Amino acid sequence: MKPIEIKKDIFWVGAIDWAIRDFHGYQTPRGTTYNNYLVLDREITLIDTVKHNFAEIMLKNIKHLIDPSQIKNIIINHIENDHAMALDKIMAYCPEAKIYLTQKGKDGLERFFDLSKWNINVVKTGQKINTGNKTFLFIETPMMHWPDSMMTYIEEDKLLISQDAFGQHLASSSRFDDEFINCSSEEILNDAVWDYYANILMPFGFIIKPKILELQKMGLEIDMIAPDHGIIWRKNVSKILKIYLDIAEGFAEERVLIVYDTMWNSTEHMTYPIAQGIKSEGLDCKVIKLRATPMSIAITEFWRCRGTLIGAPTLNNLAFPPVMQFLDYLRGLRPKNRIVGTFGSYGWGGGAVKEMNEVIKKIGLELFEPSLEVKYRPSLDDEERCYEFGKNFAIRLKEYHKQFGPF
Ligand code: FEO
Repeated sequence: MKPIEIKKDIFWVGAIDWAIRDFHGYQTPRGTTYNNYLVLDREITLIDTVKHNFAEIMLKNIKHLIDPSQIKNIIINHIENDHAMALDKIMAYCPEAKIYLTQKGKDGLERFFDLSKWNINVVKTGQKINTGNKTFLFIETPMMHWPDSMMTYIEEDKLLISQDAFGQHLASSSRFDDEFINCSSEEILNDAVWDYYANILMPFGFIIKPKILELQKMGLEIDMIAPDHGIIWRKNVSKILKIYLDIAEGFAEERVLIVYDTMWNSTEHMTYPIAQGIKSEGLDCKVIKLRATPMSIAITEFWRCRGTLIGAPTLNNLAFPPVMQFLDYLRGLRPKNRIVGTFGSYGWGGGAVKEMNEVIKKIGLELFEPSLEVKYRPSLDDEERCYEFGKNFAIRLKEYHKQFGPF
């Protein structure tokens, strides 16, 4: 493939990974891209690299434009493997190039490469380099996504190269948001933004708002945001910034997710009347069986909905393991501003809802009580209890939701 000019003399030289379905354990049904950028100026600068097994593609893209030995500067915005592990391949062509990265970036990168032979330059927020006609401003963004993370802003082009932030795991032949929306759909793009945020950035939501405000305080005019994954924002820059700010402020959709798993279908049978009870209060409800759904999709839905009901049968006095796996994954993502209730079936001794509730309290989510348990198979009376449980949860959720927004 050929490089794509995103601004005058600034080229996308990355790779599209159409085939990836498992990104370090996170399911990526839409594939992804590894974006990196080559800036042609008096001094040629490369921003980020790609995942190691796409180094050859990146090099070919660069060779369409220049001999890689002409590269004078390499900026590493983020050292995670999908962006920095092709660095040695490019340095083989330009061993004298200056490498710019944060102190934490240097500390991490030296665990992967022998940095003593390279020209390493540690930078901080506010530092700049000029390469002729272009000025690169560095902005540290620790924990967006790793401690080393930073962004690079090219002043003359009003271009923010944002590494993981504002990205999406979305393989496409389109490089820009408007192209993608015209050729595919805005809904798919929106889903990809939520999916990425929920699974990659959720634990670091607390830093997103202050960082965006810091960018605004610095007076940076931004007319393009080029992340390291997915499409580049050129028509919907303010929209993607607002989506991130809204999420950081606690935005969620006023609807309900039911996630559950089941051994002999009793917990599953509880979901039907519960969903009807929710619907009776005018709220939309989606039901996900955990073993039938990739974890990352269940997590994204959890994050999009203001409230979730989690269902598990009891096994050996504890909650059924696939449901606890979901809760463990969720705990690591440190979600906030969501209300959660639990339900489940048991035979001779309960325990599932107790165990689930303990984890929900530990996470710090709002716990809806009382939980609901059914012995063996739900009877008609039990189904009525399930319906009321769903209805009461919906009423409580609508009340809880009022404290957020308007967005
Ligand atoms: Fe796409 Fe945090 O790496």
